[in-house]
Amino acid sequence: MNVTTRSESDVGYVEIDNAPVNAIGQSVRQGLLDAVHWAEKLRLTRVILSGKGWTFAAGADAREFDLAPLEPHLPDVVNAIDESFVPWIAAINGVALGGGAEIAMACRMRIIAPAAQIGLPEVTLGVIPGAGGTQRLPRLVGLVKALEMISFGKPIGAQAALAAGLVHAIEDDPVAEAFMVNTEELGCIVPTWELPAPDHDQSVIALARSACARKSHHQEAPRRAIDAIEQGLTLPFHAALPVERVTFLELKTGSQSRALRHMFFAERAAKAPNWLSQPAVQLDHIVVVGGGTMGTGIAYALLHAGARVTLIETDRDGVTRALNNLAQIIEASFTRGLITEAEAQDRQNRFAATTDYAQASDAMLAIEAAFESMEVKTQIFTRLEAFMPTDAILATNTSYLNIDEMAACVADPSRVVGLHFFAPAHIMKLLEIVRGAKTSDQALATGFDLAKRLRKVPVLAGVCDGFIGNRILARYREAADTVFMDGSTPWEVDEAMVEFGYPMGPYESQDLSGLDIAHANRRRQDATRDPNRRYIPIADRMIELGKLGRKTGAGWYRYPGGKGKVEDPIVADLANEEAHFAGRTRTDYVPADIRNRLLLAMINEAANILYEAIAQSARDIDIVTVSGYGFPRWRGGLMQYADSLGVQAIVRELEVLAKEDPIAWQISPLLRACAKDGSTLADYTA
Ligand code: 3HC
Repeated sequence: MNVTTRSESDVGYVEIDNAPVNAIGQSVRQGLLDAVHWAEKLRLTRVILSGKGWTFAAGADAREFDLAPLEPHLPDVVNAIDESFVPWIAAINGVALGGGAEIAMACRMRIIAPAAQIGLPEVTLGVIPGAGGTQRLPRLVGLVKALEMISFGKPIGAQAALAAGLVHAIEDDPVAEAFMVNTEELGCIVPTWELPAPDHDQSVIALARSACARKSHHQEAPRRAIDAIEQGLTLPFHAALPVERVTFLELKTGSQSRALRHMFFAERAAKAPNWLSQPAVQLDHIVVVGGGTMGTGIAYALLHAGARVTLIETDRDGVTRALNNLAQIIEASFTRGLITEAEAQDRQNRFAATTDYAQASDAMLAIEAAFESMEVKTQIFTRLEAFMPTDAILATNTSYLNIDEMAACVADPSRVVGLHFFAPAHIMKLLEIVRGAKTSDQALATGFDLAKRLRKVPVLAGVCDGFIGNRILARYREAADTVFMDGSTPWEVDEAMVEFGYPMGPYESQDLSGLDIAHANRRRQDATRDPNRRYIPIADRMIELGKLGRKTGAGWYRYPGGKGKVEDPIVADLANEEAHFAGRTRTDYVPADIRNRLLLAMINEAANILYEAIAQSARDIDIVTVSGYGFPRWRGGLMQYADSLGVQAIVRELEVLAKEDPIAWQISPLLRACAKDGSTLADYTA
């Protein structure tokens, strides 16, 4: 039984009991509907509804979304609660999301625990509320708040819910408090469905539409949610419900919802692999080496997760810089209201910066985040090895360098693992955990355990130049530079990728990170680059011109006064010049050509990464591309997108491109194999 009922004199207690999060599947719906009839039959004076464990209810069971709807349907259950002559009280003991919030809104009264949250996050799964949420929320909190909560999908805390009028009270023990509610007072509360809808205010709707166009203009669900809310303002309640339901059912089977659900479950499945034979090392004190942006970002993430952190720098100036960088992050978190003053102080108290490696003597993990140089990194590992316990884990945050070469400098290379964070490290969710040839299961388990503690999404990667994410990025940029040299401009390339759904194109994003990083990589790769592979020299010309990106006021774009980007004709001319030197005639690419080339280059490389077992699954590549590189989440990640195009169609397009340049467009053996047997990339296991 996923819903339990009991009565004490004339009070009924109904509890949703569906671990782990009380998702509302068919059996919960049936249990709740039965409970409505049970309470009416016993002529109870109230029903107190709560959830077992730490949630009230996490919403409809999204695993059922791929099935045909099963009876009883949630809107019928919710309506039965709202229209029952027995008043229900929602004792919101923990998160009440989606369908969980819709059930709570159908109750006559809502009492919430201080740490609980309530919200309608359906748009994050590509659907709109489908059980009356678009109709009941505006009646309870007004049009402005309802539009905001539904179209952005962000849940709110207890205080905000009280201020909005969504709940009646905040109490430590909502069930006990629900018992104390005066019966007459309860009887006077009008059922939610009988409340009048807010006035149809066109200007408020227009504002919501433009905010939605700015923040999520590619996504269908937020727009359709606003439509459903607007229609409900002029329709009777029971006429508006089917409009909402039809939209919900339509979106549920659409490509965006499928993609968003794929990402939701992929991120939840990203856990320590079940073949790890050793447990993680317990971590209290962690050392970070290097106090630049990355090092201090990592340090803050560790502090935020409760660790004690010592940051090691080379000299006093480095220590001062690290202290300042960390203070800035703490200050910014406090100013944004993410932490209290006491929490800010606590983080500061658990942090120390020093030049003395002896301070690492009791730490079981060190993460080096120093300059990308093998020499620098091996020196750091040698010093850490001298001072740290012999079984401590040594992690490197390198983005490209060979971890096996690094590990060879310590007596026990099994202690060495890659922990590749993404900047800003305290914000970005992705963590690539890189397994060297000799990395122990304990080192890997420690990495996965740390990711869980930091609430990051871990992905296991093998050793190669750039691991998963940066290796794909290198091909993306190569394809962009080729398109640029052969006929386009950086702004046309950027526009095409933004139109596809990236928050910014490859050139604007490189201006942010700095062109010097990629330049250093190109020089490192000079010795091993295939001499027959076409090399696009434009980025090198940019370095010669001192155009390193935003930090120098100009990169692919100019940033006059350090502000917004401006197209730069000098940059556009570089392509004309280089094409002239190379004797190439430039062509006009339409946005679809540009997109196609950049995406196919990435898909081809990602297939190789999977084929070579650098990534364990297509799903892991989806996580990396979405969480670390801005690939549109609503397309479900690079490989999910590739499968949606169909591998056979991809191979046909690559064959055409390979005629132009057989080396750059050499087709991945995995793509060929999938095309041959009609399987998908998602089916493939390394
Ligand atoms: N359906 C199915 N499974 C769900 C689920 C849901 N709505 N919500 C969570 N789960 C599962 C997860 O997949 C995970 O399963 P696993 O252990 O097998 O990997 C398990 O519950 C625990 O989830 P998390 O790892 O996410 O646990 P957290 O503690 O980090 O977060 C949470 C808990 C805040 C509830 C978070 O899971 C969450 O945000 N869930 C989704 C909420 C949501 O979007 N609800 C709306 C659903 S759509 C809807 O209700 C339609 C309606 O209007 C008709």
